[in-house]
Amino acid sequence: MRSKIVAGNWKMNNNLEQTEALLSELSAKLPDTDAEVMVAPTYVNLAGAVASLQGSKIEVIAQNMHFAENGAYTGEISGDMLLNIGVDTCIIGHSERRAYFGETDEILAKKVASALDQGIRVMFCFGEELEDRKSDNHFKVVERQLKNALFSLDASVWSKIILAYEPVWAIGTGETASPEQAQEMHAFIRNTIAEAYNSSIADKVSILYGGSVKPGNAKEIFSKPDVDGGLIGGASLVADDFVDIIKAI
Ligand code: PGA
Repeated sequence: MRSKIVAGNWKMNNNLEQTEALLSELSAKLPDTDAEVMVAPTYVNLAGAVASLQGSKIEVIAQNMHFAENGAYTGEISGDMLLNIGVDTCIIGHSERRAYFGETDEILAKKVASALDQGIRVMFCFGEELEDRKSDNHFKVVERQLKNALFSLDASVWSKIILAYEPVWAIGTGETASPEQAQEMHAFIRNTIAEAYNSSIADKVSILYGGSVKPGNAKEIFSKPDVDGGLIGGASLVADDFVDIIKAI
């Protein structure tokens, strides 16, 4: 059985008070669910979030990390720093990191390998741009992103990988992939992993959909057989919306 996961990526939103307020509202309203529920606050509030969620089902995850273990990398955060404050899952490869911070497939391959080496679970994000879909290159692009960052990894680490397919044209735009488009791509991803490794690994990996998931569309998207949950941006900043999305799974 694959884990069902609903994760909120808060991006560069919420100062300390806002973080505490949202976490306490979420904790109070959290529905009973078998799904894993995760939130990714900004770095400066990670340790506080871990402390205030002690004993809660909500897991605190990070939005990014550096591949080096330590050293002269001003402004960066290492895997050890995350583990040390009780954060053992990290988003890697978000399209905003790729677009605004120059993270290439090569850099992401290093980050993924380093995280896994240190025992950090990786939520790997990838997805095509609008032009790729318009020119019918979306499958090729996704396959390349997976291959370059993940397919050199040993089969044994795949239990520590979560995938998040996020078509760039659907992120923060209000435009969502249709449930059929999501299912088609998720099935393709699973198939690509089965070919690169084997079907047991492919069947076990959770593949989340991300891109304008809202309370109104979550249920239909999550009902697709290869969609194992969602990575939620904007809607995860509003407790009632995030809770409704959790209920939808
Ligand atoms: P969105 O963001 O839900 O606001 O589209 C998703 C994401 O970037 O993970």
